Amino acid sequence: MTREVILYIATSLDGFIATEDDNLQWLDETEGEGDAGYLDMLNTIDTIIMGKRTYDYVMAHVDEFPYSDKKCYVFTTSEKGSNEHVEFVNENVVEFTNTLKQQEGAKIWMVGGAGILDDFMKENLIDEYIITVSPHILGSGIPLFKENNPKIDLYLESTTRYGQFVQMHYKVKTKN
Ligand SMILES: NC(=O)c1ccc[n+]([C@@H]2O[C@H](COP(=O)([O-])OP(=O)(O)OC[C@H]3O[C@@H](n4cnc5c(N)ncnc54)[C@H](OP(=O)(O)O)[C@@H]3O)[C@@H](O)[C@H]2O)c1
Repeated sequence: MTREVILYIATSLDGFIATEDDNLQWLDETEGEGDAGYLDMLNTIDTIIMGKRTYDYVMAHVDEFPYSDKKCYVFTTSEKGSNEHVEFVNENVVEFTNTLKQQEGAKIWMVGGAGILDDFMKENLIDEYIITVSPHILGSGIPLFKENNPKIDLYLESTTRYGQFVQMHYKVKTKN
């Protein structure tokens, strides 16, 4: 049994995860309920993967790194080594992730953004999709999914309403 990779991410109704200038205000201002299952999800994972732009966004918006009790990998070609919070990685995404999946541990959270996610999509590396939709049509921005993904069949596990958000939890039906 290998460790599963979860995509837990929020999107506008028209499929954008951020505006082009990295604005997430529309998410912050949405009237939610509780934490939209965030802590429950966090309790199932011990490893985090994100892209460099998302890492930069997080670092610019928090006083304290929020994932210090998790093993964090940041994919980037522009930084090497590690710091007290994360390890910078510039490796083949598929090989890296498959090696991680073979190791002992809890689930792995693919945080995003869309840049690094695209590499996961093209290789069908996500096992569970937890997508939270906000009541916004942004019109433009960074799309959650890029084009030309393989066809991936999902099973709808649950839907949950958190105030003005709706969350859909899917699991991948079959793996190629
Ligand atoms: N709505 C949400 O729930 C949510 C979730 C996550 C992120 N976001 C937002 O999405 C935005 C960022 O998304 P994004 O798609 O532009 O960027 P991203 O995926 O976070 O980061 C892209 C960067 O990651 C690195 N990267 C990607 N694939 C790589 C690979 N295969 N090998 C090595 N490095 C790789 C590159 O960094 P280098 O240029 O350094 O090489 C690339 O420029 C931010 O505004 C963030 O806040 C929103």
